[in-house]
Amino acid sequence: MMSRRIPGMLRPLLSGLGTGRGRCRQPLAAAGQTPAASNTARRELCCTAHLQSSSGDSGVSDENITVHFINRDGETLTATGKVGESFLDVVMKQNLDIDGFGACEGTLACSTCHLIFEPNVYDKIDPVTDEEMDMLDLAYGLTNTSRLGCQVCMKKSIDGLTVRVPTQVSDARQDAEVGQKRKQ
Ligand code: FES
Repeated sequence: MMSRRIPGMLRPLLSGLGTGRGRCRQPLAAAGQTPAASNTARRELCCTAHLQSSSGDSGVSDENITVHFINRDGETLTATGKVGESFLDVVMKQNLDIDGFGACEGTLACSTCHLIFEPNVYDKIDPVTDEEMDMLDLAYGLTNTSRLGCQVCMKKSIDGLTVRVPTQVSDARQDAEVGQKRKQ
Protein backbone atom coordinates (compact mmCIF):
# COMPACT_ATOMS: atom_id res chain seq x y z
CA MET A 1 0.00 0.00 0.00
CA MET A 2 1.38 3.38 -0.94
CA SER A 3 0.67 5.03 2.41
CA ARG A 4 2.86 2.42 4.14
CA ARG A 5 5.70 2.50 1.64
CA ILE A 6 6.41 6.21 1.85
CA PRO A 7 7.49 6.25 5.51
CA GLY A 8 9.46 3.04 5.01
CA MET A 9 11.44 4.53 2.14
CA LEU A 10 12.10 7.73 4.02
CA ARG A 11 13.34 6.00 7.15
CA PRO A 12 16.87 5.29 5.87
CA LEU A 13 17.28 8.99 5.13
CA LEU A 14 15.89 10.00 8.50
CA SER A 15 18.05 7.41 10.19
CA GLY A 16 21.13 9.04 8.70
CA LEU A 17 20.11 12.29 10.36
CA GLY A 18 19.68 10.63 13.73
CA THR A 19 15.95 11.09 13.75
CA GLY A 20 14.83 7.49 13.17
CA ARG A 21 12.25 5.86 15.38
CA GLY A 22 13.92 2.50 16.03
CA ARG A 23 13.15 1.00 19.41
CA CYS A 24 16.70 1.01 20.72
CA ARG A 25 18.13 4.20 19.33
CA GLN A 26 17.57 6.90 21.87
CA PRO A 27 18.97 5.43 25.10
CA LEU A 28 22.16 4.36 23.32
CA ALA A 29 22.68 7.70 21.59
CA ALA A 30 22.19 9.42 24.91
CA ALA A 31 24.84 7.21 26.47
CA GLY A 32 27.45 8.86 24.20
CA GLN A 33 28.71 5.61 22.66
CA THR A 34 30.74 5.47 19.47
CA PRO A 35 28.71 4.47 16.38
CA ALA A 36 30.34 1.02 16.26
CA ALA A 37 29.77 0.33 19.94
CA SER A 38 26.29 1.75 19.70
CA ASN A 39 25.42 -0.53 16.78
CA THR A 40 26.67 -3.62 18.59
CA ALA A 41 24.80 -2.75 21.74
CA ARG A 42 21.71 -1.85 19.72
CA ARG A 43 21.64 -5.27 18.10
CA GLU A 44 21.90 -6.99 21.43
CA LEU A 45 19.42 -4.78 23.23
CA CYS A 46 16.68 -4.63 20.64
CA CYS A 47 14.80 -7.64 21.89
CA THR A 48 15.82 -6.97 25.48
CA ALA A 49 14.10 -3.60 25.37
CA HIS A 50 11.01 -5.21 23.91
CA LEU A 51 10.90 -7.87 26.62
CA GLN A 52 11.34 -5.32 29.35
CA SER A 53 8.54 -3.18 28.04
CA SER A 54 6.15 -6.06 27.41
CA SER A 55 6.64 -8.30 30.40
CA GLY A 56 8.89 -6.66 32.94
CA ASP A 57 11.41 -9.43 32.26
CA SER A 58 15.11 -8.61 32.62
CA GLY A 59 15.78 -9.53 28.96
CA VAL A 60 18.26 -12.09 27.67
CA SER A 61 18.33 -15.24 29.78
CA ASP A 62 20.67 -18.23 29.94
CA GLU A 63 18.11 -20.54 28.38
CA ASN A 64 19.32 -21.88 25.04
CA ILE A 65 17.17 -22.03 21.94
CA THR A 66 18.04 -24.11 18.90
CA VAL A 67 17.17 -22.69 15.51
CA HIS A 68 17.63 -24.19 12.06
CA PHE A 69 18.05 -21.71 9.23
CA ILE A 70 17.37 -22.95 5.70
CA ASN A 71 19.82 -20.79 3.80
CA ARG A 72 19.34 -19.17 0.39
CA ASP A 73 21.00 -22.16 -1.30
CA GLY A 74 18.88 -24.73 0.58
CA GLU A 75 21.58 -25.70 3.06
CA THR A 76 20.47 -25.98 6.70
CA LEU A 77 22.49 -24.04 9.28
CA THR A 78 21.83 -24.98 12.90
CA ALA A 79 22.62 -22.47 15.64
CA THR A 80 21.95 -21.81 19.30
CA GLY A 81 20.72 -18.55 20.80
CA LYS A 82 19.48 -17.29 24.15
CA VAL A 83 15.93 -16.43 25.09
CA GLY A 84 15.57 -12.68 24.50
CA GLU A 85 18.11 -12.46 21.71
CA SER A 86 17.01 -11.61 18.19
CA PHE A 87 17.55 -13.85 15.19
CA LEU A 88 20.02 -11.26 13.95
CA ASP A 89 21.98 -11.64 17.21
CA VAL A 90 22.23 -15.38 16.60
CA VAL A 91 23.37 -15.00 13.00
CA MET A 92 25.99 -12.39 13.92
CA LYS A 93 27.32 -14.05 17.08
CA GLN A 94 27.69 -17.44 15.43
CA ASN A 95 28.97 -15.92 12.21
CA LEU A 96 26.48 -17.83 10.07
CA ASP A 97 27.19 -17.55 6.37
CA ILE A 98 23.93 -15.98 5.17
CA ASP A 99 24.63 -13.68 2.24
CA GLY A 100 23.76 -10.02 2.88
CA PHE A 101 21.91 -10.71 6.14
CA GLY A 102 21.61 -7.87 8.67
CA ALA A 103 23.24 -5.14 6.59
CA CYS A 104 21.94 -2.28 8.76
CA GLU A 105 22.86 -4.12 11.98
CA GLY A 106 19.38 -4.05 13.42
CA THR A 107 18.54 -0.39 12.87
CA LEU A 108 15.40 -1.30 10.92
CA ALA A 109 16.65 0.33 7.73
CA CYS A 110 17.43 -2.43 5.21
CA SER A 111 15.06 -5.48 5.27
CA THR A 112 18.00 -7.82 4.52
CA CYS A 113 17.17 -9.80 7.67
CA HIS A 114 13.89 -10.97 6.12
CA LEU A 115 12.95 -14.46 7.39
CA ILE A 116 9.99 -16.70 6.61
CA PHE A 117 8.49 -18.63 9.51
CA GLU A 118 6.33 -21.73 9.65
CA PRO A 119 2.72 -20.68 10.39
CA ASN A 120 2.67 -22.47 13.78
CA VAL A 121 5.84 -20.61 14.83
CA TYR A 122 4.69 -17.29 13.40
CA ASP A 123 1.66 -17.44 15.70
CA LYS A 124 3.92 -17.74 18.76
CA ILE A 125 6.31 -14.84 18.13
CA ASP A 126 5.64 -11.29 19.24
CA PRO A 127 3.40 -9.22 16.97
CA VAL A 128 4.82 -7.07 14.19
CA THR A 129 5.01 -3.30 14.75
CA ASP A 130 4.04 -0.67 12.18
CA GLU A 131 7.71 0.27 11.79
CA GLU A 132 8.71 -3.31 11.02
CA MET A 133 5.78 -3.63 8.63
CA ASP A 134 6.94 -0.54 6.73
CA MET A 135 10.33 -2.13 6.18
CA LEU A 136 8.91 -5.57 5.44
CA ASP A 137 6.92 -4.04 2.58
CA LEU A 138 10.25 -3.40 0.85
CA ALA A 139 11.54 -6.99 1.18
CA TYR A 140 11.62 -9.38 -1.79
CA GLY A 141 9.45 -12.49 -1.66
CA LEU A 142 7.17 -11.27 1.11
CA THR A 143 4.82 -13.92 2.55
CA ASN A 144 2.06 -13.97 5.17
CA THR A 145 4.56 -15.32 7.70
CA SER A 146 7.48 -13.01 6.92
CA ARG A 147 9.28 -11.09 9.65
CA LEU A 148 12.51 -9.17 10.09
CA GLY A 149 15.04 -11.19 12.06
CA CYS A 150 16.37 -8.15 13.91
CA GLN A 151 12.94 -7.54 15.39
CA VAL A 152 11.96 -11.05 16.50
CA CYS A 153 13.00 -12.34 19.90
CA MET A 154 13.85 -15.93 20.70
CA LYS A 155 11.51 -17.53 23.22
CA LYS A 156 11.30 -20.96 24.78
CA SER A 157 8.06 -21.87 23.03
CA ILE A 158 9.76 -21.82 19.61
CA ASP A 159 12.79 -23.90 20.60
CA GLY A 160 13.89 -26.18 17.75
CA LEU A 161 12.18 -24.14 15.04
CA THR A 162 13.11 -24.07 11.38
CA VAL A 163 13.07 -20.73 9.59
CA ARG A 164 13.66 -20.05 5.92
CA VAL A 165 15.92 -17.35 4.49
CA PRO A 166 14.39 -16.04 1.23
CA THR A 167 16.37 -16.84 -1.93
CA GLN A 168 16.55 -13.16 -2.87
CA VAL A 169 17.61 -10.25 -0.73
CA SER A 170 17.21 -6.50 -1.14
CA ASP A 171 18.70 -3.65 0.83
CA ALA A 172 16.04 -0.96 1.17
CA ARG A 173 18.72 1.70 1.63
CA GLN A 174 20.18 0.97 -1.80
CA ASP A 175 16.73 0.76 -3.36
CA ALA A 176 15.90 4.18 -1.91
CA GLU A 177 19.16 5.62 -3.28
CA VAL A 178 18.40 4.28 -6.75
CA GLY A 179 14.92 5.81 -6.55
CA GLN A 180 16.39 9.16 -5.54
CA LYS A 181 18.88 9.10 -8.44
CA ARG A 182 16.14 8.28 -10.93
CA LYS A 183 14.18 11.32 -9.77
CA GLN A 184 17.17 13.63 -10.26
FE1 FES B 1 18.30 -4.18 8.71
FE2 FES B 1 16.86 -5.91 10.20
S1 FES B 1 19.00 -5.81 9.96
S2 FES B 1 16.14 -4.23 8.99
